[in-house]
This record gives sequence, structure tokens and C-alpha cells, in this order.
Amino acid sequence: MASTAELLGLAGQHMLKNYKQPPLVITRGEGCYLWDTEGRRYLDLYAGIAVCVLGHAHPALVRAVTEQAGRLMHIANYYYNDRQIELSAELARRSGYDRVFLCNSGTEANEAALKLARRYHWARGDKSRTDLVATWSSFHGRSMGSVALTGQAKYWEGFGHMLPGVSHVAYGDLEAMRRRINDRTAAGFIEPVQGEGGVLPAPDGYLEGLRALCTERGALMVVDEIQTGIGRTGRFLATQRVGVEPDITTIAKGTAGGVPIGALLTREHIGEALLPGTHGSTFGGNPLAAAAALAVLRTLDEGDLMAHAEKMGRHLVDGLARIAEKYPRSATGARGIGLLCGIVLADGVDPRGVLTALRERGVLVSQAGDRVVRFAPPLVVTAAELDEGLAALEAVLADPPRMAG
Ligand SMILES: Cc1ncc(COP(=O)(O)O)c(C=O)c1O
Repeated sequence: MASTAELLGLAGQHMLKNYKQPPLVITRGEGCYLWDTEGRRYLDLYAGIAVCVLGHAHPALVRAVTEQAGRLMHIANYYYNDRQIELSAELARRSGYDRVFLCNSGTEANEAALKLARRYHWARGDKSRTDLVATWSSFHGRSMGSVALTGQAKYWEGFGHMLPGVSHVAYGDLEAMRRRINDRTAAGFIEPVQGEGGVLPAPDGYLEGLRALCTERGALMVVDEIQTGIGRTGRFLATQRVGVEPDITTIAKGTAGGVPIGALLTREHIGEALLPGTHGSTFGGNPLAAAAALAVLRTLDEGDLMAHAEKMGRHLVDGLARIAEKYPRSATGARGIGLLCGIVLADGVDPRGVLTALRERGVLVSQAGDRVVRFAPPLVVTAAELDEGLAALEAVLADPPRMAG
């Protein structure tokens, strides 16, 4: 194997510089731990951004992928494959929807949702309903449609005109939605917890209120559960916590535990607007990804992992709140639902510095928003592993790195 220095040299020469990685190279994972080329071990409390719900190298997932790779890896959607049919049925059963479109990432799932929302109205003869109302500080992905929905101007800079007809209102502000959604609106588009925006759960009543408003005004309600779905909040979908049924839900990240996948879930009368030839994906519904997702869903049940996520989430957010209380000059509070939690750093504390200090102590997490340290660990995480991460965080926040100046 090439040395760490050789690998980093090659990365510096050949990889596009669109990410800002620290100088370490991960080679292996097991459970909630990762190892780098130097043999250093890290506690993974971000799970590849809420993806590795079963942790790393989970035997059930490894077995499913290996078996499927030896049987059938890809055929494209000219033909059905057994795994995509089984997965569509499983996703429909767990979510309560009728129709499933499989794709390969979160941004693709949102792209499909955007197209479906517009085409649904068009197919009913309502050709002027093309507007989309999204929220500030949201994140929906990087393709041109998803980036236009994303309510953060830093993601638009330099990319020319954004999609016409998309506008943004303050997250959690139902009155702002009421003022914006009208007879030109195809859909209201929100996350149930703004993940990248800073781990901001929807205020009480917001999801229910938006559901009622969309129904009243004839617009579709689209909920992006790409970060919150697949059990992370203690339910299969976060909207199930409050009994809200959006017209379209998008999922991705955790669905196949690390194998690329995305999905759009919807109702029969809406999904039928996408007739043969109107939308598609070469890899979408690939039997390898579908087999991985089926193994994830089975393991979620067998390990009662959604209930476990809820319990561990309480343990984590309580621990974060205790640290914030103990070090008010370092952190102002903690928030989150299930295993999507964050601690809000105080003014002047350097978030990147905190992440670096944690990494030096062998704990990997990520930043969300301007000053939130986000925890989105594997759903199999144990209380002891969370305590290990909390102890490292406490040590860092006892004397945190501060912004220069
Ligand atoms: C809520 C949400 N939507 C969409 C996306 C985009 O997903 P992907 O990176 O798989 O395209 C993300 C990714 O972080 C996300 O958190």
C-alpha cells in the first residue's frame, strides 16, 4: 500500500479541490470506529453525514452486498429486477406511500420531487402552477434544481441564474408560508429538521400547519427527509412523529447504509404524472443498492434500532446540554431529535478549531450552520461510545479554540 505521504501527494495533484479534507486518509471501519493509514483509530460520530446507519462493515450489510454482487449488479430500467421491486414494496409499507422512484443520491431525489411537483399540476391542466416555496437556511443538494431550492446564497455564488420560480421564506414561520403560497405554487418544500442549516427542528405545529395550508391552497407539500429519514429521529420518517403525511417525501443517505441511493415516495394520483419517458435514471433501482437497502431495513427491525436511536438520542442531547450548561462561555445550548443532535457554540469559539481538536482526540463529528457541532452517529452507537465522544467534547470545550481577533 502507498504511504500516507504518497497518497496525500497524489490527492493534492489529481483530486479536484472542492473539499477541504484534513491530512489523513481513512482506510477501514468497523462498527462506530474508523482507522487511518497510520493505524490511528477514530470514533465516528457523524457516520459519513448520517449515512452509515449500521456503522461500518456490519456483517448483514456486507453479506447482502457480497451476495448480490455475485448474482446481479446492474441491468438498468429496461427490465425489472427482483431487488428493486422488493425494496419499493418495503419503502411503501414503512412510509405509508403507494409509489416509489429509486435514484442514487439526495440531490437526485429532490430533483425528481421538483419535476414531479411541477408536472403534477401541468398534467391536471394547471400550467401556471410552477412556483416552489422553500426556506432560508435549508439545504437540498448541489444539482441546479436542488441548489436553487437551498436557501443559502453561498451555494449559489458563481453558478449563474438559479431556477426561476423558486423563492424562500423564514424556516418555521407559518405566516410567511401563508403569505407566499398561492395559486401559482406547485409545492412548499421543507426539511423536518434543518440539518446542514444548524440542526434546527421544526417548531411545534409547523409541519401540521404547512400540511393544512398546502391542502387549502392546492399546492403539494414536499418534505426532504434525506438527513432525517430511515429511523434517525426514532421513527422511519420524522413526519411520522407528528402524524403528518406530505404529498412527496425524499430520502437518501442512510437508506442503503453507505451504498449510494435515493428515493422519492409519493401517492398514486401524484406519481402518475411521470409517464414513461418523462423521468429516469440509469443506476436508479440498481439491484446492488436495493439489496443493501433491504439489508438495512431488515437490520433496523431485528435490532429495534429506531427505538434505540430515540433512546441514544436522549442520552446524547442530555450530555450535550450538560456540557453547554457547565461551560456557558463555550456553548449556549443543545438541540436535536433522535440521533441528529447539535451543540451550539458561543460567540467567538472557532467551530473548525473545535472539530480539529476533537479529531486530534480521536473523535470525528461535523459542523452544521455557522456554529453548531453536529452529531449524527450510526444508529447502532452505544451509550459508552457516546460517552467517549462527550468526554472528548467536554475536554475541548473546557478551553476551546477561539476565533482570531
Ligand atoms: C436535507 C438534505 N437534502 C439533500 C441533501 C443532498 O444529498 P446528496 O449529497 O446525497 O445529494 C443533503 C445532504 O447533506 C441533505 O442533508
